[in-house]
Amino acid sequence: MHRPLTQSDLLPRGPLRRLGRSLHWFAEIDSTNRFLLAAAADLPDGAVAWTEYQTAGRGRLGRAWQSPRGASVLLSVLLREPAGSPLGDYAALAGALAACEAITEAAGCPARLRWPNDIVAGERKLGGVLVESAAAGGRRVLVVGIGLNCLQHRGHFAAELREQATSLEIECAGAVDRAGVAATLLARLDEEFADAAPAGERVRRWCGAWASRSDDLGRRVRLVENGRTLEGTIVDLGEAGELVVQLDAGGRRAFSARTATRAW
Ligand code: BTN
Repeated sequence: MHRPLTQSDLLPRGPLRRLGRSLHWFAEIDSTNRFLLAAAADLPDGAVAWTEYQTAGRGRLGRAWQSPRGASVLLSVLLREPAGSPLGDYAALAGALAACEAITEAAGCPARLRWPNDIVAGERKLGGVLVESAAAGGRRVLVVGIGLNCLQHRGHFAAELREQATSLEIECAGAVDRAGVAATLLARLDEEFADAAPAGERVRRWCGAWASRSDDLGRRVRLVENGRTLEGTIVDLGEAGELVVQLDAGGRRAFSARTATRAW
């Protein structure tokens, strides 16, 4: 359908600071996240895996992530982080922020963030981030996986997703440069993950960036947690990236992305 993304598409200006020391391309694989997690013991920090098609792509909370062959950017990076690294809580936000900036810069499409890890255009989802982790010898291995819908037309989405999902092809005025989006995404991820500023400074920057790149603050929200549905108004982002909600039933509560899912 479309030309596969090559190593020189992803790294057009040569090596980055942290990401890309080890590169793994697959015409087809079950999941780039699964691959990096399974191979973590043998791979260096900053390893990158990308593919044209996933047969068992993973989304948050055990959902599937599906995309037609060659239509998306499907990419994962492996990070070895020390215990207590702020990325333990903020890797998904940092990844979503990088994706948002890459889309705006490379495709000229003003993407926004929607808690916890969605990249949206208007009310529709353009992409998402899934962070999975494992312990390895006193350090934490984080795999940050990103899926960005690039070339899909409306008919490519399953009927039940058609009202909720979108792509750069649908949203952007001009032709979509999938390779440019992928390269800019990897460069932006590298800026986020190679940043050695003190943890507090990075967290303040991520929270500030979330506030300016998201329309969530002040919005009504419905959250489902452990089978319970709760409604309220979003008032803040918590210290570990949780969504702080003023509940209609009374009281303020922080919801973790690990347990809560957003209905709208
Ligand atoms: C979500 O919004 O639910 C997160 C979707 C994350 C999908 C990406 S595609 C590349 C990487 N490999 C996977 O199996 N999942 C992530």
